[in-house]
Amino acid sequence: MPLEIIRNDITKVQADAIVNAANPTLLGGGGVDGAIHRAAGPELLAECRTLGGCAVGQAKITKGYRLPAKYVIHTVGPIWQGGSKNEEKLLTDCYRNSLALAKEYQLESIAFPLISAGAYGYPKDQALKVAITVIGEFLLKNEMTVYLVIYDRASFQLSEKLFASITQYIDDRYVEVHEIRRELFAVEAPTPVQQRKRNLEDLMEQLDETFSQMLLRLIDEKGLTDAETYKKANIDRKLFSKIRNNIDYKPSKPTVLAFAIALELTLDETKDLLRKAGFALSPSSKFDLIVEFFIAEGNYNIFEINEALFAFGQNLLGV
Ligand code: APR
Repeated sequence: MPLEIIRNDITKVQADAIVNAANPTLLGGGGVDGAIHRAAGPELLAECRTLGGCAVGQAKITKGYRLPAKYVIHTVGPIWQGGSKNEEKLLTDCYRNSLALAKEYQLESIAFPLISAGAYGYPKDQALKVAITVIGEFLLKNEMTVYLVIYDRASFQLSEKLFASITQYIDDRYVEVHEIRRELFAVEAPTPVQQRKRNLEDLMEQLDETFSQMLLRLIDEKGLTDAETYKKANIDRKLFSKIRNNIDYKPSKPTVLAFAIALELTLDETKDLLRKAGFALSPSSKFDLIVEFFIAEGNYNIFEINEALFAFGQNLLGV
């Protein structure tokens, strides 16, 4: 999965580089800065002393020393002053310049904390939005695994409005599993003729194309390239080529939904693609209802959808 949102202490993350939310002196501090220096050991500070500080929005790289990560990329976020002092541009630069450094060093993975969302007071939902937007844009054009590391759930805030809309959507539709069972048993068992007709329909459906064939047909019909599709699906290239080369590939439900988002399918088209893989949307799955919410809203930004899934404690889309 090119972009993963994870709960962890960034000093424990096994990425090629972890990003430090530093201050312009680069001589250490509290928060994630303090944690990284403590875990890396004194050699980190010794190397930082040679860098001559770092301007806000810029990024500099050092070794990782005792950290599991090979490198530390130090970047200095803006201090929040109400939003009219170019804070969003400077925070965007932090992510862009850190990713550019990682690319220059040909790193395969990088882990970010939520820069400026702590001592620097940047509103957490806006800090998250900047992070997701800039990382998402980068991943549409580059191959890298990016972890967005959330240390404590309090630091992770969707915008109030979005959180409320999704909660309402779930409340209106969520059906406890036992209610579903009651409905199912209430349904008349199909007569033998009906059953035979349904088997025949299913059989005809199976005959025309497999999931893999349907997916490749939809990619062509939507005028997308393979790369555009798997990047918009937050799916890595290796898995996609497995699906492309195996006509009978059996995907997981989250993988099918990730492709439905990448192809910007309508709800009915999504249900058809799910059915082709042997799945259906379920009103007793918050995961399904949140994905359904974004499709109904016409928002196919998989990184924003994963932000919401993470906020509701669900697995993420993509693999
Ligand atoms: N792992 C991951 N994330 C962490 C960790 C950790 N070990 N510790 C804190 N965080 C999170 C916080 O919860 C917050 O969401 O990192 C985010 C950034 O918080 P800060 O570390 O306070 O960084 P920032 O807001 O950018 O302020 C930078 O604080 O530590 C000083 O020297 C630093 O002066 C600089 C300022």
